[in-house]
Amino acid sequence: MTGAPIEPLLNVKDLVVRYDAAQALHGISLHVAPREIVAVVGANGAGKTTLLRAISGLVRAAEGQIEFRNADVTKLPVHRIVELGISQIPEGRGILAALSVKDNLRLGGYVHGEPDPALLAKLRSWFPILFDRYLQAAGMLSGGEQQMLAIARVVLAKPQLILIDELSLGLSPKVTSELVPRLRDLRSDGASVLLVDQNIQQALRVADRMYVLANGRIAYTGTPDELRAAPDLMARYLGIEVVTPGSKEAE
Ligand SMILES: Nc1ncnc2c1ncn2[C@@H]1O[C@H](COP(=O)(O)OP(=O)(O)OP(=O)(O)O)[C@@H](O)[C@H]1O
Ligand SMILES: [Mg+2]
Repeated sequence: MTGAPIEPLLNVKDLVVRYDAAQALHGISLHVAPREIVAVVGANGAGKTTLLRAISGLVRAAEGQIEFRNADVTKLPVHRIVELGISQIPEGRGILAALSVKDNLRLGGYVHGEPDPALLAKLRSWFPILFDRYLQAAGMLSGGEQQMLAIARVVLAKPQLILIDELSLGLSPKVTSELVPRLRDLRSDGASVLLVDQNIQQALRVADRMYVLANGRIAYTGTPDELRAAPDLMARYLGIEVVTPGSKEAE
């Protein structure tokens, strides 16, 4: 599997984050390569959201370093990190419910002025429903449609790295599986995705590579196939019995 090492797009080194007295991340190291979809999975409270918030500058690293495109971004303010090419879909999606779909999209592309027409055309082909509801309040959209809007909004910021906190939360497996090809399209277009999810089955389906986070530490890293082949690990860190083809399917 190993070829010439690829220069990582994102490199997190020995990251420590503390909230007051409590330590949420205990020295995390991970990387994301160009055109790679990486998933971080872990139970409630494992530190997934904290990790993404630290990368996007919303919480500060107490120790360690975050490098993006070979530059140290550890101490940069959020807006600089966005300008450099990292955009986050927050937990709960961050849709502004009272604003129209159109205005939510406009906010996504604000760093570039008016939304790029070519990108809007692509988004129309990906998520036609959003353009049928273009002038409606975003709060009227279903959960799945709101997640489409959240994805569309970050795409307009033209990020090189998209951080997604809980892609599948509150969505049916069917709706979630409709979003997966879009993440692959983003990868084909040159972006990388770092997603965190409690839904391991979902993460196994979409990721090129995975990390298991347990109590603020990386407990395991490997490909989805390697993780599927380690049922003891899945049970220990994720409390999950692995569903293998031919056995009862969880969906
Ligand atoms: N603002 C905060 N102040 C104090 N402690 C916090 C804060 N945010 C998170 N924590 C704590 O840090 C730890 C990691 O939380 P985090 O939200 O990163 O976990 P998570 O893996 O995203 O969990 P979930 O799956 O429930 O979203 C938890 O123990 C949590 O209680
Ligand atoms: Mg979380």
